[in-house]
Amino acid sequence: MSFPFMRHRRLRSSAGIRGMVRETVLNPLDLIQPIFVTYGTGIKREIGSMPGVYHFSLDTLKEEVDEIVSLGIPAVLLFGIPETKDAVGSSGFDEHGIVQEATRLIKQWYPDLLVVADTCLCEFTDHGHCGMVHTHTVDGVVHGDVMNDASLELLTRTAVSQAKAGADIIAPSNMMDGFVQAIRAGLDEAGFEHVPIMSYSVKYASAFYGPFREAADSAPQFGDRKTYQMDPANVREAIREAESDVLEGADMLMVKPALAYMDVIRVIRDQFALPLVAYNVSGEYSMVKAAAQQGWINEKAIVLELLTGLKRAGADTIITYHAKDAVRWLRGE
Ligand code: PBG
Repeated sequence: MSFPFMRHRRLRSSAGIRGMVRETVLNPLDLIQPIFVTYGTGIKREIGSMPGVYHFSLDTLKEEVDEIVSLGIPAVLLFGIPETKDAVGSSGFDEHGIVQEATRLIKQWYPDLLVVADTCLCEFTDHGHCGMVHTHTVDGVVHGDVMNDASLELLTRTAVSQAKAGADIIAPSNMMDGFVQAIRAGLDEAGFEHVPIMSYSVKYASAFYGPFREAADSAPQFGDRKTYQMDPANVREAIREAESDVLEGADMLMVKPALAYMDVIRVIRDQFALPLVAYNVSGEYSMVKAAAQQGWINEKAIVLELLTGLKRAGADTIITYHAKDAVRWLRGE
């Protein structure tokens, strides 16, 4: 059937009809709000490149968590800024580390709010890499690389300490080979066989993490992350990464960043049956905020369009710094 019998505009003719035929609906239950917790007291400090996102010390954290819960957002993703950093990131797996303490508090306040713990060492190492490094200096310039297998042990300790503190989901973001298997084995051995792993399976070496590295004070002090994070040019490699994680026992897969990688989200959605998470990262947030502050775009419409686009591309769940605002807008506030 073709024009004039077929008219596509019939199904767009009123808000009621558009609502009836809408294929993708964004729901507050789809969202995860990241939170940055920091050492010290009385701190609620806005992150320069991420307007509306703050560092909270443990004593100011409750009002933020209250708000997230009152909006009906089911989960938070915790990042920690420790007081001290060292070569192996020991504040990351300290039983009384900042993420562990924040997790305990949040679970005490809200047992039903899901706490997702990002399992990585870059926020806790003095060199800013995601694992242990071996380095050598040539003419005063430090060169080095992350040691894969030695790092797995530290990452596993980190994950177990997060689970012990009450984390509901472990989300390893370090991109070492074999991290899902190592962490799964460590969790099981420690009695946390019921705690799922949300694997950052497909994580690209992206310039979109720039504002996060300011927020987490985690920029690498030498080199970059290209020997462990993926080349943005590759999609078949994404399938290989996801396949390994499935075999190693991942419960959920993730694609990160999100907006420049919607094709990757679609490919992973079509090839794997596990729940899929898209991470709408810091630089993606900052771009929207900057343009909105200039008055160049309609922030509300743009954010809801982007998040709906990620669901349409195949994401079940979206980690986004826009989560609180998005829920307010979905409620028509
Ligand atoms: C830790 C980690 C990073 C992000 C999440 N977990 C930074 C990185 O890999 O450099 C980035 C999140 C964002 O940009 O919002 N490895």
